[in-house]
Order: sequence, then structure tokens, then C-alpha cells
Amino acid sequence: MDLDKRQRAMLREMGVRLWQPPSPPPVVADDAINAVAVDARLERAEARFDAELAPARGAPAAPALRPAPAQAPVSRPAPGLQPRPAGVERMDWPALQAAVAGCRACVLCESRKNTVFGIGPVAADGAAPQVDWLVVGEAPGENEDIAGEPFVGQAGKLLDNMLLAIGLQRGNADTTAPRAGVSTSVFITNVLKCRPPANRNPDPAEVAQCEPYLKRQVELLQPKMILALGKFAAQSLLQDSVPEVQKIPLGKLRGQVHSYLGVPVVVSYHPAYLLRSLGDKAKAWDDLCLAQAQLAS
Ligand code: URA
Repeated sequence: MDLDKRQRAMLREMGVRLWQPPSPPPVVADDAINAVAVDARLERAEARFDAELAPARGAPAAPALRPAPAQAPVSRPAPGLQPRPAGVERMDWPALQAAVAGCRACVLCESRKNTVFGIGPVAADGAAPQVDWLVVGEAPGENEDIAGEPFVGQAGKLLDNMLLAIGLQRGNADTTAPRAGVSTSVFITNVLKCRPPANRNPDPAEVAQCEPYLKRQVELLQPKMILALGKFAAQSLLQDSVPEVQKIPLGKLRGQVHSYLGVPVVVSYHPAYLLRSLGDKAKAWDDLCLAQAQLAS
């Protein structure tokens, strides 16, 4: 396969390793400075990949945590369940954030440390950021529950590198100047906003309680592309448009452009799965290319 330098750089950012013939003689023309910069970046990306794949090979890894964003503390023990706040479908962004932070509509509120609303660029007026991409995962895990931010563990590092491979970087209140050529036009969230205890699978009743929050997030963010990562994200987003989606293997939902509230949806593997199934990283790369091409069109 003939790949140019940029394509090879993207694949290496994702950890997809290619056999290559011995290197040609060093570049000496004007491209030399760029080539040095790209090589340095690739070395850093390789080091990151080696570090993040270590746990998959059995080496112990300390969880990498980010500081938790300011969020209303949750008092415990739980005083019990309450109905989901009314009018989610009419809420603005701050009201929606507050509704999720205080939600006690399912049992997950009793064991969570923090709700995990999502992360993305912060609009000056507190309104929903208008992003090109929305990434939807399954549910917060232990690290995310502590940090109050999605995808901060090992799977999150892989997700960050996948996004970087298509020129995206997660944004937040601290992202004043993303790197040149990199966009922060992406919001990352999950189907569930609270962690299921012991990282068990989401329960259908929990998904149903959380669904209106994700729906309102989509309406307010107005993304141009939704990337659904894993079975739960795909099933939740496609249940109204794909008959019997629960019975369809994830692999069969890939490779086509679906739709949710009129927004194109591309399904791909969950990064946690990719950490265990390195061979499928190349398929995830295909999915990112499909989503990017759809967005460009
Ligand atoms: N897995 C997910 O699906 N979401 C997270 O936020 C973290 C791990």
C-alpha cells in the first residue's frame, strides 16, 4: 500500500504499525525542517503508545487523572431516588449541566462520586459550544467517576490519539491555544452520565433515564458528525432508525453512515476494546476516515 508521510503519521498516532522498506536517504531540501518536526512528534506519539499499551500486556499502570472540573458535590448517603428534572427537552446548556449534576433518577446516583456531563470547548457565554464532532462512549469508569470527565483512563489516552490522528484535540476551559493545525471542535460524552458500580454493563432502565440528557446535548451542540463508540452508544443512538439494532453485531453497524436527529452517525469500536484487540485498530482507522470524508462532503 502506498501511503504518504501524513497518512503514515496518522496511523502511527493510532498505534497501527506498518512494515516499511528501509528508509530512503535523509531529506535535505526545504522539507528537512518539517520532517524533523514530524519525526519528533511521531517519537513522542510512539512513546505514548508504548506507555498506554503496557497495561494490556500485563504491566501495572497508575491511572492518569486530570483535575476534576468544578461540580456540585454529591452528598451521601443517598436520600433516595427522585424523578428526572422536568423539561429537559427545553433546557439550555447551563440548566442541562445542572440537571445532570443533580440527577437522582436511577440507582447509579447512590454510588457515583461525580456525574460526568462531558468535555469540550467552553463557549464564552456559557452556552453550548457549537462543535463539528460529538463522540459518544458508554459510561464513566472509575477514573472518570473520580475526575468528573469522560475518557481519562487508558482508553481515553487511546481516544485522544485517535482524535489527534484526524486533527482533533479535546478542549476545555484551559485550552487557550490548541496546537497549530489541530481543532478542538469536538465534544466527548457518554450514554450514561454516572458510573455503573464495578464497571458493569449499563442497565436498560439506566440508559432510558439518561437518554433525554444525551438527546438534549445533541440538540444544543448541533454536531455535524457523531462518532458512536461501542455497542451501547450505537444501540442507544440507532434504536429508532435501525430495526432490532440490539440484535445486530457492532461490526455490521460499521462501514455505513447512520443518522440520529438528522446528524450523521458513524459507528466504531470502543477504545477499551481496541486496547485488547490491537488488530482491529486498523478498522477503527477506516471508521475515522469514513466519518471524516462524510463530514468533508
Ligand atoms: N469508557 C467509556 O465508555 N467512557 C468513559 O468515559 C470511559 C471509559
